[in-house]
Amino acid sequence: MALIAPSMLSADFLNLSRDVEMVNASEADWFHLDIMDGRFVPNISYGIPVVAAMNREAKKTLDVHLMIEEPGKYAEDFQKAGAEYLSVHIEACPHLHRNIQQIKNLGMKAGVAINPHTNVNQMFDVVKDIDLVCLMSVNPGFGGQKFIQNTLNKIKQLVEERARQGANFLIEIDGGVTLDNASEIIAAGADVLVAGSTVFKSDNPTQTIAELKAK
Ligand code: DX5
Ligand code: ZN
Repeated sequence: MALIAPSMLSADFLNLSRDVEMVNASEADWFHLDIMDGRFVPNISYGIPVVAAMNREAKKTLDVHLMIEEPGKYAEDFQKAGAEYLSVHIEACPHLHRNIQQIKNLGMKAGVAINPHTNVNQMFDVVKDIDLVCLMSVNPGFGGQKFIQNTLNKIKQLVEERARQGANFLIEIDGGVTLDNASEIIAAGADVLVAGSTVFKSDNPTQTIAELKAK
């Protein structure tokens, strides 16, 4: 059974407290929080004070996905704001191993996010050091995009490499997850499903989370 992580990027920011409570009371496992800087990705979302505010009310793990350049500058701020998992993009980190050690030294679980065009073999030398791979199944920056089908091959490659190295990371799929494709994504080997618009644009977000969880 996969973990479900609603992406708060698609929440109603004017009613954030209500939406956090909805996730608290639902079958969701984590909160997925998308941080965008307008440089690494062509969009700006929300920042550290908003994460800290959600953390005051959230009763589940905060999974923070940094789509920013120079993430090492802000890792400690996100730890203080309540991040339990902190993911940095492989494409933004020329010294990825150092970023991973920094995150772990701060007491967080370390994640590495990877864009659709980047081959997963680029992270094989660090997979034993990390807790999460955030496999982007859309180009990062926006919610509501279409799932890129090649992601299923990338999941399978990661599953094989995890077994080969005896590594323990979770495989998280981020972008374009729907009630229609969740089953095949889980069947390919995903451990965590992020879902933004599928949850928050539905008539009954609590029930949609339950339906994802039942896949
Ligand atoms: C995209 C973000 C995703 C996004 C997913 O850049 O990383 O987490 O919120 O949104 P949906 O589920 O609508 O594709
Ligand atoms: Zn994300």
